[in-house]
Amino acid sequence: MPVVLVVDDSPANREMIRLFLASLECDVMLAPDGPSALALIESSPPDLVLLDVRMPGMDGYEVCRRIKAMPRGRLLPVVMITGLSQTTHRVMALEAGADDFMAKPVEGAELIARVRSALRLRELYNTLDGAEHVIFSLATAVEAKDSFTERHTQRVGESARLLGERLGLPEQTLDTLYRGGMIHDIGKIGVADSILHKPGPLNESELPQMQAHVAIGESIVRPLRSTSGLLPIIRHHHERFDGSGYPDGLRAREIPRVARIVSVCDAFDALVNDRPYRNRCSTEQALAVLRAGAGTQWDPETVELLASELPRVQALGAA
Ligand SMILES: [Fe+2]
Repeated sequence: MPVVLVVDDSPANREMIRLFLASLECDVMLAPDGPSALALIESSPPDLVLLDVRMPGMDGYEVCRRIKAMPRGRLLPVVMITGLSQTTHRVMALEAGADDFMAKPVEGAELIARVRSALRLRELYNTLDGAEHVIFSLATAVEAKDSFTERHTQRVGESARLLGERLGLPEQTLDTLYRGGMIHDIGKIGVADSILHKPGPLNESELPQMQAHVAIGESIVRPLRSTSGLLPIIRHHHERFDGSGYPDGLRAREIPRVARIVSVCDAFDALVNDRPYRNRCSTEQALAVLRAGAGTQWDPETVELLASELPRVQALGAA
């Protein structure tokens, strides 16, 4: 049974909406303000949020923006109940990320129609979400196959997101950094174990097979609309700052910024963790390796940004 969360500071309004929804096959949760709604979404995510705009403290626009910034809120439909009929308020609702809006006073028939339509949208989102889950499960399988220590990809995603936050990048890009950091090497699922695990340098015939993982990754992810924003990271995370990387030989700022960030975070995390054929470096040694390769392999600004955020990046590792 779908769950509808009603957020309104007025107990009378909450009860009225609950009564209207009684004729629908759904469970109803109630929240009196923004912070408690956000906490509920975090602990037991609903399928739809009906959100009042005018509330003391955090208003509905801000609540909506925060919902859409949450990993599990991105695909959660939000219908804003504006009470204010001017176009500007409807525009503000849409700009805050609302999927739909309706004006007060709420009428039962309209509410039911809107809720039905939003729940259909949620069903569609669920299928997208399902496809995305498959991709992320594959990324976990790659991690096991690649013999990385546990949570490597998770830490790369989290540290890439953290650096993006420091750069003041928009929430959507932060989400791209997190998800792209996690699945950038998904194409390794198509690379032979004997090549992935070879302790020494790869020979002429092995190298192209290893490098093919970026194209394999692209072909896995491309059909999915919900992950299409991650393609630049998957394709370009082995470009080098001096243009000698692959697959396109991009240089410096030609390399998408998200790919430059993930590439530095990936290298750092690989260096400070054990691999089957070598022991981990200390943080200082890892930083020295990155600085030595800044300007040739890695983006110097990103390397220095990581250096300045080291305590927070290390805290991610300890989590
Ligand atoms: Fe890679």
